[in-house]
Amino acid sequence: MKVSIFGAGYVGLSFAACLAEAGHEVLCADADLARIEGLQRGLMPLHEPDLEALVAAGLAAGTLQFTADERTACLHGDVLFIVVNTPADAEGRVDLRHVMAVAAGIGRHRDREAVVVCKSTAPVGTADQVEAVLSGELSQRGAQLRIAVAANPEFLREGSAVRDCRRPDRVVIGSENPWAVDLLTRLYEPFIEDPTRQLLVMDRRSAELTKYAANAMLATRISFMNEMARLAEHAGADIEMVRRGIGADRRIGPDFLQAGAGYGGSCLAKDVRALRYAADRDGHALRILSAVEATNHEQKSRLFDLMTHHFEGRIAGKTIAVWGLAFKPDTDDMRDAPSLVLLERLWAAGARVQVYDPAAMPNARGLIGERDDVRWCDTAQEALQGADVLALVTEWAEFRRPDFAGIAKALRTPAIFDGRNVYDAAEVESAGIAYYGIGRGR
Ligand code: NAD
Ligand code: UGA
Repeated sequence: MKVSIFGAGYVGLSFAACLAEAGHEVLCADADLARIEGLQRGLMPLHEPDLEALVAAGLAAGTLQFTADERTACLHGDVLFIVVNTPADAEGRVDLRHVMAVAAGIGRHRDREAVVVCKSTAPVGTADQVEAVLSGELSQRGAQLRIAVAANPEFLREGSAVRDCRRPDRVVIGSENPWAVDLLTRLYEPFIEDPTRQLLVMDRRSAELTKYAANAMLATRISFMNEMARLAEHAGADIEMVRRGIGADRRIGPDFLQAGAGYGGSCLAKDVRALRYAADRDGHALRILSAVEATNHEQKSRLFDLMTHHFEGRIAGKTIAVWGLAFKPDTDDMRDAPSLVLLERLWAAGARVQVYDPAAMPNARGLIGERDDVRWCDTAQEALQGADVLALVTEWAEFRRPDFAGIAKALRTPAIFDGRNVYDAAEVESAGIAYYGIGRGR
């Protein structure tokens, strides 16, 4: 099948490469010319495991191509996916300009029937708006084309985007148009093992709300566990034991129960904010989500609070080694990363930091810029040298089994602040290092 994808970001690029791998003829477009020129030469604009090889294979096979030309992309596919960014402002108002720009472009250029699919995360009613913009453009030039608009939200995670695309838990198709449903069902066929279980066809509005409800539920689980972690600390309990204890209940399940330094990234916070804003505006206050946000806001300061306690308030002049800056492992994405809150708080208190991340250093450096109170390190080991204590913010695999004796030697006053509960307190302490985790009262 011929497919056009608008947006070569974390989602658009991963999806395009996986569709190409499955044998579809994919043309991926982006408004960012430099990004497209790089991709045409096989240069990756982002870090995502397995993606570089997949893009290279698609380019070599000719099943994956890139363009910055809107018209070419509008004419290529039988199915056209809108996968552009949909940022939300501080209150939760979603900016749909990029989505509508693509819709208008399709309306201007398209010369034959098409199924247009909104994959960007966007508020309930966005597919209706896309349809209106498209029809407006078509009628302006007197064109009469059969165009169906579907909502098809994406549930992949950064860091495992390729794996999630190839093997999605489920695919949600929001359309009541049999032609669009049939086309999308065939498109996704290579990724689906059991259609009756994994393929969920519903109306567009339900599909749009499903996406927000899913992210809101995930954020709620995390904030709930972070609140339990605070309680565990005071109660002399270990949240890791509690997590195992409740995760073993099939009704609850073991995933997404990890207490830590707060959830970050481009989507959970943005989507919770957008859902709460839309509901508020319609007079349905979502009280749970306000609490989820407030808890997460506080949680991002948790490591700093533990350090304040450890240093009895005297943080000025201290040097903190920080392992991990990206919002999660296996990505270079710094959007809304909890590490940024820790760094800001440390700097405001007069501390210096020595930071290292396996992939996010260029993005972090671009975001933060040069300053006297940060040292950008090339290795995890270098970040430790001469630092007072260590904070683990992102649980990259290379941080998981460190040489604790080496850490004890490198740090001036050995202590580890484990923002993701990856270390065993007893093992750390037996190396002569003080241990602080999240919710580990025992
Ligand atoms: P991104 O910022 O990484 O990429 C978006 C791309 O769209 C950019 O490269 C941008 O240049 C391009 N773009 C903007 N306007 C354009 C236009 N008019 N024509 C062509 N290209 C244009 O964003 P992302 O993280 O890939 O997210 C895309 C959407 O998917 C968002 O709505 C997001 O909420 C949703 N989503 C993201 C994830 C994730 O893990 N990142 C997961 C599921 C859903
Ligand atoms: C999240 C969802 O998991 C995806 O299903 C969704 O498609 C995506 O948002 C989106 O809409 O953009 P992502 O943000 O890429 O994916 O990564 P997650 O694995 O969800 O992690 C988000 C944050 O939550 C990270 O900072 C992570 O450290 C934190 N987290 C995750 C926890 O603190 N505890 C957990 O148990 C899990």
